[in-house]
Amino acid sequence: MEMLVRRGFIWQSFEIYGGMAGFIDYAPLGNGLRRKIEDLWREFFVINERSVEIDTPTVGIEDVFIASGHAEGFTDVAIECSSCGRVFRADHYVKEKLNLEVDPTVEAVKNVVQEFNLKCECGGDFKEPEHINLMFETKIGPGRGKKGYLRPETAQGIFIAFKRLSDYFRNKLPFGVAQIGRAYRNEISPRQGVIRLREFNQAELEFFCHPGEKRHPEFDRYADDVVTLVDKFDKEHRVTLREAVEKGIIAHELLAYFVGKTRRFLLAAGIRDEKLRFRQHKDDERAHYAVDCWDAEVLLSYGWIEVVGIADRSDYDLSRHTQFSREDLSVFVPYDEPVKVKRRRVVPNIPKLGPAFRDRAKKIAEELEKLEDAGDEVVLTINGEEIKVPSEYYEIREVEEEVHGERVVPHVIEPSFGLDRITYAVLEHAFDTDTVDGEERRVLRLERRLAPVQVAVLPLLSRDEFVEEAETIAGELRENGIYTELDITGSIGRRYRRYDEIGTPFCITIDHQTFEDGTVTIRDRDSTSQVRVKKSELVRIIQELLNSGKSITEFGEVFRP
Ligand code: GLY
Repeated sequence: MEMLVRRGFIWQSFEIYGGMAGFIDYAPLGNGLRRKIEDLWREFFVINERSVEIDTPTVGIEDVFIASGHAEGFTDVAIECSSCGRVFRADHYVKEKLNLEVDPTVEAVKNVVQEFNLKCECGGDFKEPEHINLMFETKIGPGRGKKGYLRPETAQGIFIAFKRLSDYFRNKLPFGVAQIGRAYRNEISPRQGVIRLREFNQAELEFFCHPGEKRHPEFDRYADDVVTLVDKFDKEHRVTLREAVEKGIIAHELLAYFVGKTRRFLLAAGIRDEKLRFRQHKDDERAHYAVDCWDAEVLLSYGWIEVVGIADRSDYDLSRHTQFSREDLSVFVPYDEPVKVKRRRVVPNIPKLGPAFRDRAKKIAEELEKLEDAGDEVVLTINGEEIKVPSEYYEIREVEEEVHGERVVPHVIEPSFGLDRITYAVLEHAFDTDTVDGEERRVLRLERRLAPVQVAVLPLLSRDEFVEEAETIAGELRENGIYTELDITGSIGRRYRRYDEIGTPFCITIDHQTFEDGTVTIRDRDSTSQVRVKKSELVRIIQELLNSGKSITEFGEVFRP
């Protein structure tokens, strides 16, 4: 963390006013890294998925969160000290002080507090535990305004636009809708630095499917990948995703598909496979909307930390929004071939109904036709009047009908990514030390394409002709879209160390020979070896190096000065 702050990755927000837990600033390098991780996510979950990306408001009206269940159910159990007034998240406090896992319920927390005579850090007694809602409340408009909340997840913006989105996809399931953006949770006592933020960045995909078809046409891409799974009974499995589905460890192919895709994305971002596992939520751990959930967890200095949640939200959200908004959010799914079904119909006897019921006969006939079956008598309510219609006025016939499709409320599988945690995890997994020329070196082995500064141009001397040459070369690299820094201060060794520490994969050096034969050197961060290349080929070579895993040895004879 010291290095990340000093080098300009992450800063404490509101620092000059003493800071506030749960907020961070993305400093120039951290911002660059997170943006590139977002772009990589887009490549996996938008460009190479059956999905689109949208962007909806971060403030939501109260109706949305009443329907979604967050207004009522998005809570943690808190304990407040009756002496100093500090409030703690109960399960975290119990874990920290007693090293015990407590169920996140008021009853369980109360029992633990009593049994272990748990006190506040100040020595004071705790009041009764209670549920505290995690959403930030706000007011929309002046005066009394309308109650609103800062969104606790980007997902709701997608669910409430579902009708439009389904039209956009011509109502053809399955399809996915992604959103990247800020979300907010007023965490009770965030104590884990960058891990638990009150304002954070999510990348979420809501993948809508037919409830009976939780499969993905591209499952084979990941089916043979071997993953580490920890099921809800804490049993560990090291299996292929195909086996995981066949053995029923993962409930269905669509969840397994997103476990596989999530793993590949995290590996591409630089997360180490041996420090990655997928853990199933226990029955009392799942969010109120989920029927099953697998977290991607990454091993960090904080322990195993959730960085992605992959949840089966079933039809929970669309059904709730249908119920509360009264908009039908079902989709008509046509069958490949029409299906013939036999059904009973109630057929009114019009010639008899007319004389008997006169001006009400037409309406009675219409109501009878809507029925699926009838006994000896039907009782209808027409214009508030109860009318008994005996069976002589209708007959029951069995008919064969062609059915062309069915209406379904789609189910949702949701891979939800915490970008801040992923950015931090990428940094921790990239951090390394080694010995170069007898000295210990700190190096960030970031994936080349994610490095916030991709190339540093370093003139060996600070003389004018060296600096001018360096400026020309840096300008050319920048014109080609490469993040380039020019650095003329300090010894060349110190400058190399600086760029190693921020993960810059390549340094270009302008030396005396540049003026003799038009060549520069490229130094590779990981091996610290160099090659000498023609200036005229530099941009092409750097582009190739950045976009591939190629070694500099492919571009010349390597040497170490
Ligand atoms: N959308 C899932 C979450 O925010 O946790």
